[in-house]
Amino acid sequence: MTRRNFLRQALVGAALVGEAQAFGNWSEWLKREYCKVKEYILLQKRELLIPKLASYRYEGEYKVFDMNIQRALHPFFEGEMTHTYGINASYLGETILLGVGEKVKINYSNFLSEPTTMHGHGMHVPAQMDGAVHQIIHPSSTWSAVFEVKQSPATNWYHPHLMGETARQVYQGLAGLILIEDKEHMLKLPNEYGVDDIPLVIQQRRFKNNQIDYSPSRMDMMRGYIGGELVVNGGINPVFKAKRKFLRLRILNGSNASMMQLQFDKIPKFYLIGGDNSFLPDAVPLSSIFLSPAERVEIVVDLDGLQNSSLRLLDQISAKEVLRIEVGSSLEENLFNPNDLTRLEDLSLASGQKVFRFGMRRMRFTINGKTMDKDRIDEFIPLDQPQEWVVENPTRMAHNFHVHATHFRVLERNGSSANVRAWERGYKDTVFLGPGDRVKLHIVMRDFADPSAPYMYHCHILEHEDNGMMGQFVVI
Ligand code: C2O
Ligand code: CU
Ligand code: CU
Repeated sequence: MTRRNFLRQALVGAALVGEAQAFGNWSEWLKREYCKVKEYILLQKRELLIPKLASYRYEGEYKVFDMNIQRALHPFFEGEMTHTYGINASYLGETILLGVGEKVKINYSNFLSEPTTMHGHGMHVPAQMDGAVHQIIHPSSTWSAVFEVKQSPATNWYHPHLMGETARQVYQGLAGLILIEDKEHMLKLPNEYGVDDIPLVIQQRRFKNNQIDYSPSRMDMMRGYIGGELVVNGGINPVFKAKRKFLRLRILNGSNASMMQLQFDKIPKFYLIGGDNSFLPDAVPLSSIFLSPAERVEIVVDLDGLQNSSLRLLDQISAKEVLRIEVGSSLEENLFNPNDLTRLEDLSLASGQKVFRFGMRRMRFTINGKTMDKDRIDEFIPLDQPQEWVVENPTRMAHNFHVHATHFRVLERNGSSANVRAWERGYKDTVFLGPGDRVKLHIVMRDFADPSAPYMYHCHILEHEDNGMMGQFVVI
């Protein structure tokens, strides 16, 4: 397809899906269409797409972002456009970059013809700002998440959380990254976004006739919607051309249900520097990482010695290539200081214990025997009081457990702290449980008590979440 034909198709297609309405004026919209042409050309060359950084303005001391949730067309394949959803983008969303301590307002405007919500996964914010089940954004309306960044640097993300519809909306493309940074770590780690600090949103997607195919059978609803292509930042089989010695990768398993076992084909080791919500005290050399849906890791790869060759990141579970990293003849120097990345707090004594037990009932999924009811509060959690949460998976399938509002530490897996994997040793918000697994978490709710606004905990296999495997708590 020539550039010109592409533009024509994009214009016609965009008019068809009514995408233009998402923009106040035509020149804005045309500019974006032009970016899409560039994106298309990059995709044809199989270059890794880097989600753009969302632009912002200041209103008083607030950093304000305008995020448009819209239908769009995305060039996954040569010759035909794929109908998608995106946020300021044709697939996925722009990256929201925040600094620790900043005051932020994110305006999410819904240009879809269906309701949605937009949840900041991993964000430590008041329940009213959580963007989960209760903060519904109706078509043609805007909802704003207003908060102060009261947490450590992390790779978080945002995605819809509409009860019963989360899986489908995310599958269509609604998800983006929220990166939190601070000055100290910017000096220690590769931090030039898109150059040596690279986000990788990895998702499995099924396609039919070049269109996204979300059509779960009963079987798919049970085991989760898995299979299809590996899509990385909205591209299939991408290549990244590395320019600097140390490459930092922020990896999100953005799949609805697929597990991933990631490793490189060549250098046996890379450095793990952080998990979901925090850095580790020191970088840990590793050879392989397992990620369940919604989990993140940050790693640093030393490319020195790989000049004039390429390196492949593979997913052992799907037996597919995630990314090819091409290294040219020379690499620029950059900084990576693997030590003293953070200090993890000593764990205070827990003042109470709670048990969360996964189960199934009549083709639905349960936690403590109950399916999700948005009008029922399942747990009342006292502010500032550390607790031990024991999560048990007596079922014969894998699940994971995600908690809003705060970050926990994993104390034990199956009775021993030795079973806690390297990437589970910092602060986390999502933990994997294989069949028969039992994990013990140390958790504290801080800052935001509100007896009238619930947060959620749930399995992050989205088909399970949509099918009952979720509960609500308030912080009192
Ligand atoms: Cu990533 Cu309750 O969500
Ligand atoms: Cu969440
Ligand atoms: Cu599950």
